[in-house]
This record gives sequence, C-alpha cells and structure tokens, in this order.
Amino acid sequence: MTSNGQGGHGPRTGAYTQAYDASITTPDEFWLTAARGIEWSAPPTRALDAEASESGRWFPDGRLNTCANALDRHVAAGHGDRAALIYDSAVLGEQRTYSYAELLDEVSRFAGVLAAQGIGHGDRVVIYMPMIPEAAIAMLACARLGAVHSVVFGGFAAKELAARVEDAEPKALVTASGGIEPARRVPYLPMVRQALEMTASAPQTVIVKKREQVAGSAEDHPDWLDWDGLMADAEHAEPVAVAATDPLYVLYTSGTTGKPKGVVRDNGGYAVALHWSMANIFDIRAGDTWWCASDVGWVVGHSYIVYAPLLAGATTVLYEGKPVGTPDAGAFWRVIAQHGVKALFTAPTAVRAIRKVDPDASLMGPHDMSSMTHLFTAGERLDPDTFEWAGKVLGVPVIDNWWQTETGWPITANLVGLEPMPIKPGSSTVPVPGYRVEILDDKGRQVGAGEEGNIAIRLPLPPGTLTGLWGDPERFHGSYMAAFPGYYATGDSGRIDADGYVFVLGRSDDVINVAGHRLSTGGMEAVVAGHPDVAECAVIGIHDDLKGQRPSGYVVLKSGSTIDADTLREELVALVRDEIGAVASFRDVTVVDALPKTRSGKILRKTMRQIVDKQDVVVPSTIEDMAVLEALEKQLGD
Ligand code: COA
Ligand code: AMP
Repeated sequence: MTSNGQGGHGPRTGAYTQAYDASITTPDEFWLTAARGIEWSAPPTRALDAEASESGRWFPDGRLNTCANALDRHVAAGHGDRAALIYDSAVLGEQRTYSYAELLDEVSRFAGVLAAQGIGHGDRVVIYMPMIPEAAIAMLACARLGAVHSVVFGGFAAKELAARVEDAEPKALVTASGGIEPARRVPYLPMVRQALEMTASAPQTVIVKKREQVAGSAEDHPDWLDWDGLMADAEHAEPVAVAATDPLYVLYTSGTTGKPKGVVRDNGGYAVALHWSMANIFDIRAGDTWWCASDVGWVVGHSYIVYAPLLAGATTVLYEGKPVGTPDAGAFWRVIAQHGVKALFTAPTAVRAIRKVDPDASLMGPHDMSSMTHLFTAGERLDPDTFEWAGKVLGVPVIDNWWQTETGWPITANLVGLEPMPIKPGSSTVPVPGYRVEILDDKGRQVGAGEEGNIAIRLPLPPGTLTGLWGDPERFHGSYMAAFPGYYATGDSGRIDADGYVFVLGRSDDVINVAGHRLSTGGMEAVVAGHPDVAECAVIGIHDDLKGQRPSGYVVLKSGSTIDADTLREELVALVRDEIGAVASFRDVTVVDALPKTRSGKILRKTMRQIVDKQDVVVPSTIEDMAVLEALEKQLGD
C-alpha cells in the first residue's frame, strides 16, 4: 500500500512512489537527507520532535540562517553574477535585474538599517508593500537578523492592517508611498497612519520607501524614516544563526471569523521543504528562470516568489502588474519570452482573465515561448475548461497543485521534477511526500475510494508546515486539530480516486476564494451587520466565471427602515471596501425578508449557496422554518 491508504493504487514503483513511501516509512532518514540541501551552522542530528507540539517540530537541534541560504551561499559558491531577481513592472514599463551579489548587498544593508533601529532576533516587523523589490529585500533582511516578518497584502485597508499590527506587536513597520493599480494609484501612507491610530501596538519605527509615482513620503510624519536616506549610509549586517524551530514569519490568513489567523512558519523545516520542492515538484534548479505571478502578500508569494527560488539558486521574476490591462492580455507572454522563463506559476483566475479578453491567445503571436516547459497553477481549483485551454495555447503540461497558507508548500501535486504522472483534469494529482492525505466523514471515519468527504492530513505534518498560530495555541488546536483527533483538518472537501488521485472540491467552511485571494465571509458579515439599517445578514461565496467565487450579501432590514435598495448597496459596498479592502470585490447586495436558519439559529449558508448557484438544494432536517427557505428560493432561484 502506498500513498494515503485509501483506494488501490496499482503497482507504482517509480521515483514518486519510492520517495513517498520513504517519507512515510522512514521519515527521519528521508528529511535528514533532504536537509543536506541546506547549509547549516549546526546540522540537525534529529528530524522530527513529535513531542514538541501537536503537529510536531522539525530539526530541533539544527541551526541556520534562511537568508544566508537564499543569498550568501550562492555568492560564496561563485555565483554572485547570476541573476537572482528580475523586477518587471508592467504598470511602470520598468525592469531591473539584481544579481545574487547585488541582492545580497541590498539585503545586508537593509538588515543593517533594521539592526540600527534595534531590531533583532525574534522581533516582529510588519511589511506593507506593493510588488517592488524592496518588499523582498525587507523580508530577507528580517530573516538575516532572525527577526520575524509579517507581510500584509497591499489590497487590504487600514482596519485589516491594524488588526495584524495589533496581533503581531511589531517593533517596526516597513512600507512604501503606495501601489499602482491599472486604473489608479493607491496611496499607502494615509492607511498606515489610520491603522496605527487604531492600535495600541503601533511600532516605534516606520520606514517608508518613496515611489515617485505615488504621493506621500516619510516627510509626511515627524517620526517616520526614509528608506533611501537610511540605506545611503547603512552598515552591512551579517546573518544571525537561529534555531531551525525559530519563527521566520507570521502570515495572517482568513479564518471563519473576522479575526485573521497568524500562521507561524519556522526557519529550518521551511527551508528544507522549499528547497526540496523546487527540484522535485517544479523541476527548477540553479540557473533556471522561474516566475510566480502572485503577490508577496500571499503565501504563494512568500514561498515561490521569494524563498524557494532563491534557496534553489534560481532566478525569480517579481512582476508588478496584472494578466490583463497592463497593457493587454499579452503581458504574461511578453514576460515569459523576454526573460526566458522556464515555468510560470499562477492562479487559474489569471488564465481565465487572459482567455476572456483574448480567446485565441493571438497576443502570444509575437513572443518566443520556447523557454517554457510547464504552467503550474494553485490558489483555487483548476477547472477542466481552463486546464484544456491553457494546455492548448501553451503546448506545455498544465499542472495543478493544492495547498494552503497553513502548509506553506503543496500538499498534492504532480511532481514533474521527480516523476511526471498522467494528468487527470480536475485533480491536483497525488499527495506530496510527507503528507498523509485521507478523506474522512464528519465522524472522522475514512470513506471509500471516490467518496467525497473532509480532506484531512494525518499527523505529523511534514517540514515547512505551520507550527502554530501566533500567540493563540487554543485557536490552533480548535481550528485544525480538534475536529479529527490525530489529523490536521484542512477545511477543504474532496475525494481520492482508486488511483490515489486527489480531487479538491472546495472549502467546507465559510472561507471563500475570490480570484485566488482567500477571504472570510464572516469578516464581511461583521462589516455589513454594522450598517444602521441592517438587522441581520449573510455573506456567501457564489460562483463567478472569472474569479471562481465572489461574495454575495443577503440582508434583512430593521423593521421601519426606509432605505432604498440602491443606496443600501452603495453604502455597504463602500463600507466593505473601507474596512476590508477593494480586494474583497464585494458588490452584490440583495434585500430579503428573512434568512433560513436551523432551529439553533445557525444561518444555512450552504443551502443558500446551492439556491443561488442553481445546484440541488439539500434541506437540512434541522431547518427552523421551511416557509423562509421556500420564499428565498422563489426570490433568488429565478
Ligand atoms: N493593492 C491595492 N489594491 C488592490 C491590490 C493591491 N495589491 N490588488 C487588488 N486590488 C484592488 C484592485 O485594484 C480592484 O479594485 P477596484 O475594485 O477599484 O477595481 C480590487 O482590488 C479587486 O482586484 P482584483 O481581484 O485584482 O480584480 P480585478 O478585477 O482588478 O482583476 C484578475 C481580475 C483576475 C485579473 C486579478 O484578480 C488577477 O490577476 N488575479 C490573479 C490573482 C493571483 O495571482 N492570486 C494569487 C494567489 S496564488
Ligand atoms: P490560501 O491559504 O490563500 O493559499 O488558500 C487556501 C485555499 O485555497 C485552500 O484551502 C483551497 O480551498 C484553495 N485552493 C488552493 N489551491 C487549490 C487547488 N489547487 N485546488 C483547489 N483549491 C485550492
């Protein structure tokens, strides 16, 4: 029996099966061997410390510096001239290449800047930046000092930034004057100021990278510091060796409530897992050019724009722009051709956006795409239609991989660097070594091959996965470990077929995925409920042809309210934009007479989603009032 213990697997004997089985039967040996890909100041003698936490801690006696592995070691090995990072800004029409030696110089100087501000091992630094090289430089500089970064996505508004600052209690915040969206400039500094006024945990140091295209600079505030000014006379800081189990970053992600979860990632396990993944999952090695078109504010950006490609000694493209509109739907093809990109990693929604505008991919015409060997997608389900279109126009394998902020790297994938497997559209292929993926029913019993259920991962989790939630062990246990003792509950539902292929079908909780961005409907409900005319509300994720899902709000008005539907909609849209951010893409508001509930008062969001998406409606036996559901079906079903 191989893989996950579910379904007959057929007699696979190839490199994948060997690696997978070794990772399960002799995990210590497997991961200590993988750990040799990393340079340690004290190499680990032990792999897993199962006792140290519920999910296990990796390499308990190892010491290393993640930044030194990403940069110094390549320079020391004589590769200082190799391109480390190519900044390609489609919104500005600018490009800049940093060699490994140049990037090391920038990072060690910015680490010197942070050190001079009193930042050291274990201190938190919030980074709120657009897709500019300084974002990656700030992250790596924190890693160099053993400080813990927490990057906040630039599309989040002040209140979301404040919530993250409040929780992480940073000593410094690093930002820029703003971001550049296709149709507008997004000034960050007013939001930073507002956010810092909302929290009692405002950091002592704020550093601002001035961008001439966006108004605002450090001069706007008496105590803020200018990035360029500080860098002009910065001292270089050397890498600080930290314990493998020390945190590298906290990345906040949406849970089912409005309060974001601070996913904690360690140094050693993460470095080992990412390094292993580049060669074995993505077939990317030193000297290859790799492009992950995500944002450093998301986990995909942390792992595959910044850390993994640099750990591998590859060249990473940091792209500031969109798949369409910057300037057109040929932008991705231009970047691939111009930089000789071997593999692109993006979200299916980006491919759908290109297809919508340029269905024949005619804008690919002038570009030489011959460097490209694979398209990898993640962040949301790769629907078979998009899979087929991308394969047809690109002429390369299109490979889905499934993972989460919590895991930090793929749970399931087609490991093309190890052993390419036949692709089944709709499946993200097989469990990655180290992940024991099982499908459980609601009582925690394994279901049969092909049956749908909750996707759970048997503990311990492999290296690189979360080690906890920042400052909240109870929530860590409650969110992930309590539902199925002995397992990590992913929150996704799906099935595993008789060949061991995993099909991820969607979230089984109130987290939604809008254009590859993970958002909480609970957070949006809290904002909508704050409107003075709203008695109660539900926000659900409904199908969207472009973005996969979009939020849709259903509102019951307070008795006596006379607000008209258009005004209410405008006000609610503005509120969500203001409190969560434009990225929520909250635009639909429907006024209803009542919300369907269970007898215990729980809103039947899943049933509502089935009505709106015109699926078969499954009515729970616990429904309080069937008439409410029937009225809603009549109103929404047409
Ligand atoms: N800073 C500020 N605002 C941002 C932002 C950022 N970093 N990112 C998005 N926004 C804003 C947009 O400007 C837009 O604002 P608007 O309502 O004023 O137009 C809003 O948030 C929604 O943005 P987006 O989700 O990007 O939708 P879009 O309609 O502008 O573009 C796509 C649609 C599909 C082209 C775009 O979503 C896309 O490129 N998706 C790929 C996502 C991705 O790579 N995700 C990573 C997961 S792996
Ligand atoms: P995030 O934490 O932002 O990476 O979002 C994780 C969630 O996105 C997962 O729990 C899934 O619901 C969804 N997701 C990510 N990748 C995939 C994929 N390849 N197929 C299906 N869903 C995915």
